[in-house]
Amino acid sequence: MKYVIGVDLGTSAVKILLVNQNGEVCQEVSKSYPLIIEKSGYSEQNPEEWVEKTTAGLAELIQQFNGDISDIEGISFSGQMHGLVLLDENNEVLRNAILWNDTRTTKQCQEIYDVFGKERLLDVTKNPALEGFTLPKILWVKENEPTTFDRASVFVLPKDYLRYRLTGNIHMEYSDAAGTLLLNVAEREWSGEVLEAFGLSADFCPPLVESHAFVGNVTAEFAQKTGLSEAAKVFAGGADNACGAIGSGILAEGKTLASIGTSGVVLSYEERNDLDFEGKVHYFNHSEENTYYTMGVTLAAGYSLSWFKDTFAKDEAFDQLLEGIEEVPAGSNGLLFTPYIVGERTPYADSTIRGSFIGVDASHERKHFARAVLEGITFSLNESIEIFRSSGKKIDSIISIGGGAKNDTWLQMQADIFNSKIEKLTSEQGPGMGAAMLAAYGCGWFPSLKDCAEHFIQTAKVYYPNKENVEKYAKLFNVYQQVYTQTKVLNDQLKEYRK
Ligand code: XUL
Repeated sequence: MKYVIGVDLGTSAVKILLVNQNGEVCQEVSKSYPLIIEKSGYSEQNPEEWVEKTTAGLAELIQQFNGDISDIEGISFSGQMHGLVLLDENNEVLRNAILWNDTRTTKQCQEIYDVFGKERLLDVTKNPALEGFTLPKILWVKENEPTTFDRASVFVLPKDYLRYRLTGNIHMEYSDAAGTLLLNVAEREWSGEVLEAFGLSADFCPPLVESHAFVGNVTAEFAQKTGLSEAAKVFAGGADNACGAIGSGILAEGKTLASIGTSGVVLSYEERNDLDFEGKVHYFNHSEENTYYTMGVTLAAGYSLSWFKDTFAKDEAFDQLLEGIEEVPAGSNGLLFTPYIVGERTPYADSTIRGSFIGVDASHERKHFARAVLEGITFSLNESIEIFRSSGKKIDSIISIGGGAKNDTWLQMQADIFNSKIEKLTSEQGPGMGAAMLAAYGCGWFPSLKDCAEHFIQTAKVYYPNKENVEKYAKLFNVYQQVYTQTKVLNDQLKEYRK
């Protein structure tokens, strides 16, 4: 039996999957790392930590592996998107990575519009200037840390840096490059026009490759540290959302994904590169050649739940925290949560808004709060579904992966709030599985990613909307949507108290 490895370099942890030729996950290792939050709105990580944790995780996985090491043929990556890693001329990291959920760059987003024009930016990059994207972060460092910026010779994204440390070669692939605001998304090339407008040189951007491209073998040093074979082939990999889509078989028009990781996304496959969503949803290159996807993003989806757990039930497991939520009726007895704890992206690109619990009542117990958190996260994802539906897309079947697919009550809640059939897969590990599939395809196991998906992906269970709850939630969603507007001014006033 042959194997491939999918490495999902996430925001809270790196998850490593060993997958065989039948698409079965044979081994799994996860190593977590913290966010560095120096002040409100900041979110950084030390790239060395990604390398250390991935090296340790791979070594552990190889140690437990009983087969012949040379049967592990390939390795590929899924990565948290947008994070800025600046390298000097010797490819040494210049500062901590500034991550996708860091929102310090509101001023730089405005500068991008002032210099380039919002319409032109949408024409070229297909996306608006959002705090989480990479170009605003580059401009922030240029303005605030000029001596560091002067030493920068190239920028990469998180998984590109990790891959560089495995192979010694620097690349970027289209699906992640799409989230930098420096790529002409439809033409699939770095935009000379954007680079020139912001005084950046062409060699500041790494060479672009396809997600399944072979980019080298693991170095002798890395093979020695982990136990991997030096013959193991390394493939470029993809943005975590693109990989999540591949790992869930979102490889044809009409397929929709709801993925709950640290962020939450609703994602829809697109064959075309010339649609106009007016920047209301992100429009990126897929990790399948020459295809695209659109998506709406909730900044703190799983993060709202892990924040809630870490703050109020630190020593408990998630299952324990969620005990009893199935007994709480839809609507959590009048308790409503908005998950804006680090600001929001879709449908309100707003870095100042913050979350709320509305309607706290003396009768509420912890299980009401826990259920309200899940409902609030799901309502936020429903905002993206509404945007897709109002653009004419038919959404009546959604594949759910990530944290949201680990709990029966939450899966049924998605069916009821989205008013759609929800499919749970045999593996809810979308991004890691997608990375493994890119390696499998790169190794030549299958003629296409679609063929690979047919072999690897199976539905485990389907959840159907419950009519009574659909009606209840539709009414409550109207209330949920008002919370943003009604708390906007209050949150603007609270901003000065944030550290
Ligand atoms: C997408 C985004 C997040 C990260 C999470 O635009 O910022 O979903 O990719 O890792």
